[in-house]
Amino acid sequence: MQHTAPLSATPAAYLAKHSPDAPVLFIAPSVLQATARRFQADFDGLVTYAVKANDRPEVLSNLVAAGITTFDVASPAEMAAVRAVCPQAVLHYNNPVRSAAEVRAGIAAGVYSWSIDDMSELAKLRDVPRDNEVAVRFALPVKGAAYDFGSKFGAAPEQAAALLRAVAEMGFTPSMCFHPGTQCNDPQAWVQYVHAAADILRAAGVLIKRMNIGGGFAVDRGFDAPDHRAVFAAVKAALAESFGTDAPSLLCEPGRAMVADAAVLATRIKGMRNAGRTVFLNDGIYGGLPDLRDMG
Ligand SMILES: Cc1ncc(COP(=O)(O)O)c(C=O)c1O
Repeated sequence: MQHTAPLSATPAAYLAKHSPDAPVLFIAPSVLQATARRFQADFDGLVTYAVKANDRPEVLSNLVAAGITTFDVASPAEMAAVRAVCPQAVLHYNNPVRSAAEVRAGIAAGVYSWSIDDMSELAKLRDVPRDNEVAVRFALPVKGAAYDFGSKFGAAPEQAAALLRAVAEMGFTPSMCFHPGTQCNDPQAWVQYVHAAADILRAAGVLIKRMNIGGGFAVDRGFDAPDHRAVFAAVKAALAESFGTDAPSLLCEPGRAMVADAAVLATRIKGMRNAGRTVFLNDGIYGGLPDLRDMG
């Protein structure tokens, strides 16, 4: 993929003029900023951005311009990308498996919030300043996502309660987080997580000030139109039902849903076989279409 200076033309005009042989990703700043503003208007809590969805400076700086100043980073490279466009940004390091060098990089970059899903990962945070937040990530067997991260990350509920107690004993600010899986269009997935979080906290005897309800918000893939407001409303109702007046404040960290509508990937058809049923593109799952195989 090639990167060019900002274009004034539409993608169609650019393609007609340059006929590029390489795939080109077009980004519309106005659409990106509108999406960020919509998330902030609709969600009753802090909206952050999961940088892994797109870490280009054009994307990050437009999000900052639209008021996003907290970022979920998954690596030291993403921390550097955020700091380059927003030195004051608040960093949440929510990849729950880290090397010792990555923990040191996070401390040096001034990460404020960390997620963990195992005692071995909590032990690695021994040098992290105690005024930091540590969120326990838990996983449930929920349905509704195109790709379920629960098989990869997240403690079982009983383990999560023990982790919360350990986080509090170490002197960190305890929190909880979850991710229902990406492209989840079923509000009930979030509802189940919110109720389970309340049960886990009661079992642990730990109070939290805020909870991270993840990314996972669906994008328009040509079917099953996403309805983020329905998810937010369901979360709010479940929070009131399970926590009553002790409800933590919320944060969310959309990745794909923040950027998808603002981007168009132009690919070239290199060849066709089987009477047009098989199409060979100049891009694919090892390039700009990594989600295609898992998510359609
Ligand atoms: C911890 C965390 N937060 C947020 C996201 C963003 O998810 P999505 O792109 O489905 O919104 C991911 C995706 O991998 C993630 O791992």
